[in-house]
Amino acid sequence: MNITTFEEYQTAYAQSVSDPEGFWAEVAQQFVWKKPWKKVLEWNFTEPSVKWFVGGKMNITENALDRHLADKADHPAIIWEPNEPDDQPVTITYSMLHTRVCRFANVLKKYGVKKGDRVCIYLPMVPELAIAVLACARIGAVHSVVFGGFSAQSIADRINDAGCTMVITSDGAYRGAKVIPMKSTVDDALEKCSTVKNVIVMTRTRTPISMLKGRDHWWEEEVKHVDAICPAEEMDAEDTLFILYTSGSTGKPKGVVHTCGGYMVYAAYTFSNVFQYQPGEIHFCTADIGWITGHSYIVYGPLCEGATSLMFEGVPTYPDAGRFWEIVEKHKVNILYTAPTAIRSLMSFGLQYVKDHDLSSLTKLGSVGEPINEEAWQWMKHNIGKNNCPLIDTWWQTETGGIMITPIAGVTPEKPTYATLPLPGIQPLLVDEHGNEIEGNGVSGNLCIKFPWPGMIRTTYGDHERCKQTYFSTYPGLYFTGDGCLRDEDGYYRITGRVDDVINVSGHRIGTAEVENAINMHLGVVESAVVGYPHDIKGQGIYAYVITEHKPDDPEMFRKDIAVTVTRVIGPIARPDKIQFVSGLPKTRSGKIMRRILRKVAEGETSSLGDTSTLLDPTIVDEIKDGAL
Ligand code: WTA
Repeated sequence: MNITTFEEYQTAYAQSVSDPEGFWAEVAQQFVWKKPWKKVLEWNFTEPSVKWFVGGKMNITENALDRHLADKADHPAIIWEPNEPDDQPVTITYSMLHTRVCRFANVLKKYGVKKGDRVCIYLPMVPELAIAVLACARIGAVHSVVFGGFSAQSIADRINDAGCTMVITSDGAYRGAKVIPMKSTVDDALEKCSTVKNVIVMTRTRTPISMLKGRDHWWEEEVKHVDAICPAEEMDAEDTLFILYTSGSTGKPKGVVHTCGGYMVYAAYTFSNVFQYQPGEIHFCTADIGWITGHSYIVYGPLCEGATSLMFEGVPTYPDAGRFWEIVEKHKVNILYTAPTAIRSLMSFGLQYVKDHDLSSLTKLGSVGEPINEEAWQWMKHNIGKNNCPLIDTWWQTETGGIMITPIAGVTPEKPTYATLPLPGIQPLLVDEHGNEIEGNGVSGNLCIKFPWPGMIRTTYGDHERCKQTYFSTYPGLYFTGDGCLRDEDGYYRITGRVDDVINVSGHRIGTAEVENAINMHLGVVESAVVGYPHDIKGQGIYAYVITEHKPDDPEMFRKDIAVTVTRVIGPIARPDKIQFVSGLPKTRSGKIMRRILRKVAEGETSSLGDTSTLLDPTIVDEIKDGAL
């Protein structure tokens, strides 16, 4: 099933459209199933209801671990590069990983975690994070990983939404020059949560922390007292594997639900094909496991394929902007999968951090998370890939489970800044605002998908209606991505960015409504409106228009105070870059904020504001223009 030439891609694509069930059945057969499926696919996009490999029984960890023990027991599964470059990296072989996962799974069981129970994981990028994820999967518990940059409030919201009974965390985290508290943040969160019965704490920084008798337990102590054997729970293909929270245009983040069978098949299939993974290659995905990219391309995809996955604890600029290149040289990394924001940031430090490192081990480069601009694409291609490595721009989403539109490395002819063509099994289409399909090439529209694929979202946790409303109602019968897209004369796709009220800051998805809610909680704030604006490094920055009760005496201090509130409510990733105080917002007579105008002003394009005559108070636009930051 592995594609190695463009002709094979075309053949596979054609088959995947004419006979999707046959196509995916053939892919799925390469995995270990405890019981075969009865039907490949049942679906409708109205409810929506999507079931893949119906009746099939399996456990993803048997595919990610056990099946490699025969021939790859001593093969490195995870290479861990710590925050400090002088600290010893750790190599974990498949057999070691298997044992550690089984032991930790037994710890979970000891504390009463059963199949279907939800477990919140709030850990830094240490091997224990991957182990905790796999241990949940081993016993059929549903993991909900929360990125280490989220606040106590965000953790509490996620724990409560999913009804988690256990939290797995660490004392602290190292991130570059900083030591970040983890356990004390969890303690703050747990004051608002009643479902959590136990907390397992892994030692990383040995920062002093409170350990509550009867609730909190040390990881290192616990794993000593359990068995190293833990049979894998038999899971239905459609049992939930994990929940991952992501931001949308309205309300609080929603829990995207992925299931065991389809997700496994899709993560592994896309990993091996898109990156053209060759046995023995070292794959370095720089994402955090707290995001979908880490779930699919640090943990599940690579491990299901028996690959070696490199996990990095730190940040690209510590101790200096050469850190990625040092890691590539030190570990002879072959595949580097990173984000445009990281590339742009490293670019800005200049080539001196690149030139002293031997990057000749690299065979493939990948980008994900946001549209990649031409300059960053070219810089990566020339200076990192030495014009010798395919550079693939991979488009996908938390909801899609795996990569959707992308060049296949070295197989699909590249075009800078284009995600190029859909993978086999993926049927994209562009629609206009009325939902009519826009056919032909050289067109642009809203990106939808018309047929299910195994890795797709099944529901939003605890609120199926929200899943239906968000993804399947805008254009009935279609999955709507929320992205705008153009299809050029060659039929190549280029994703142009979100068309909803979601902004993409350094590759992190943030809902403007969420940031507004946080700002509005600040004392003295009456109302706010948040939009994105182009930012050289982050892709998009956060621009907030804020109405206050009284004119601030010290606007600078007020801005800082608001930033602290946002950090408390959501986390530092949602801190506004710019805050403009205004006396009103451009609202229509029906009370709707005309965000188009706010976006234009934030972008600095004040000369082309369009029609403002329908505004309740058109004069407010002048004030906003004059005060633009
Ligand atoms: C954006 C990350 C352009 C897009 C895997 C999408 C991209 C959102 C690309 C999903 C790309 C991701 N080119 N835009 N190659 N990859 N995006 O859920 O707007 O964190 O809808 O998943 O990121 O972000 P998420």
